[in-house]
Amino acid sequence: MDVEAVLQKVLQRIRPTDEERAFVEGLMGELRGIAEETTESLGLDVKPYFVGSLAKDTYLAGDHDVDLFLAFPLDTPLEELREKGLELGRAIAERLGSYEIAYAEHPYVRARYKGVKVDIVPCYDVESWRDVKTAVDRSILHNRWVIKNLEGRNNEVRLLKRFLKGINAYGSEIYIRGFSGYLAEILVIRYGSFLEVLKNADFMLRRKIIDPGNWLKHEHEVAMRTVRREAEADRPLIVIDPVDPRRNVAANLSWERYGVFYFKAHQFLEKPSEGFFFGRAKKSGSYLAELRRKGTHLVTLVFGAPDLVEDILLPQLERSARGFEKALSREGFKVLGWNVGHEGSKAFIMLEVDRREREKVRIKPGPEFFTERGQDFYRKNERVWIIGKRLFAEKTVKEDIAEVILELLEKNQVAMGKSVRENIRNAKIMLDYVPKELEDEAYLFLSREKWNLKG
Ligand code: CTP
Ligand code: MG
Repeated sequence: MDVEAVLQKVLQRIRPTDEERAFVEGLMGELRGIAEETTESLGLDVKPYFVGSLAKDTYLAGDHDVDLFLAFPLDTPLEELREKGLELGRAIAERLGSYEIAYAEHPYVRARYKGVKVDIVPCYDVESWRDVKTAVDRSILHNRWVIKNLEGRNNEVRLLKRFLKGINAYGSEIYIRGFSGYLAEILVIRYGSFLEVLKNADFMLRRKIIDPGNWLKHEHEVAMRTVRREAEADRPLIVIDPVDPRRNVAANLSWERYGVFYFKAHQFLEKPSEGFFFGRAKKSGSYLAELRRKGTHLVTLVFGAPDLVEDILLPQLERSARGFEKALSREGFKVLGWNVGHEGSKAFIMLEVDRREREKVRIKPGPEFFTERGQDFYRKNERVWIIGKRLFAEKTVKEDIAEVILELLEKNQVAMGKSVRENIRNAKIMLDYVPKELEDEAYLFLSREKWNLKG
């Protein structure tokens, strides 16, 4: 199928229908009315704004969460904004239905209305980046900038977002570290269309800096500071926020996610298909056959997952997996790769290792024989010999990797994430075997299909 036909088919699935559009617009109208009435009844001087992809008309069909921002005057003290903002948010949410309090830099209200998630977030009514006081304040400015510059290319943004979702590179959350919606919008505005963004996957990486707000000209010092800082941090892209020269919009984009985009963009242009946008069914196979093929072994730790949001849990699991990799390599096992995740109330760490047993002895190098410490070493060890000036001895050690792991855990010799440490200490350790519900995961990991760029 030619590329235009593919894009048309995808658009049919991701462009909101007229009904959805009408529903969303009706919803925003109602919410605005409720927000204004409530604000007035509490005697507050606050303006409601809609931000996010709904307000910019860049949301994907069926994915229409509302971001309602309550903008306080700039001279409001921060404490008052937090307090009054929450009070007002609650009062609005009371009229909508069920709600809960969520926490970011400051608390906000997360409500549901007519089946739609509505975030009600207090912020400052900023006019420029110099006014920005809290992390969410820029959203109002982002909104204005995108609406002003998008010039009807809303569906191009939809295509890019859906493509990024399909290849698993969408979202700036810490456990994804991919492209944010705002970054997708900026790229479409900068390069003109979905296809042009893809065609420039290599070029933009080489140019490194994207500066749609022309800050390098108008605020040279501030923008250069951003460029130097982000170059120092070795980011794949530096996209100076068109509404704030101090910020790199792509600060959370990892090399891995950019790399996936880089290869998939190329593949799509060569051989376009709908599959890129909706993810293809993952391959499946036998993890035991993979172990035989590779001649490697699999250690799996399964333990209770602490009740944490994914943003926190996954980095902690990753840190712990790296801790095992280090500790085991000190013990003479080679770790070829690791994989972490969680499934319901259980979390797991998988380690692919070169063997399940090591030698029963280790050769321990000692000090020079003619020193005090040498004498000590001589007394303490059973079989002792000299090579050159130094003493050596044999030390008996545990050979089985599961026992080695238990010993490492007991002696506190594995660096682990703080809030998963206790759970991991009580983990079940499995060798070349995983419970039924982890069989697919073990296959995807061992075969590397989980990350295979050619898949
Ligand atoms: N935002 C940002 N940088 C991020 C995440 C969010 O600047 N890393 C700001 C942007 O102003 C964005 C707003 O927060 O417009 C809402 O964030 P989000 O819902 O993540 O993005 P949307 O643009 O609404 O895209 P989506 O369709 O995925 O909801
Ligand atoms: Mg959104």
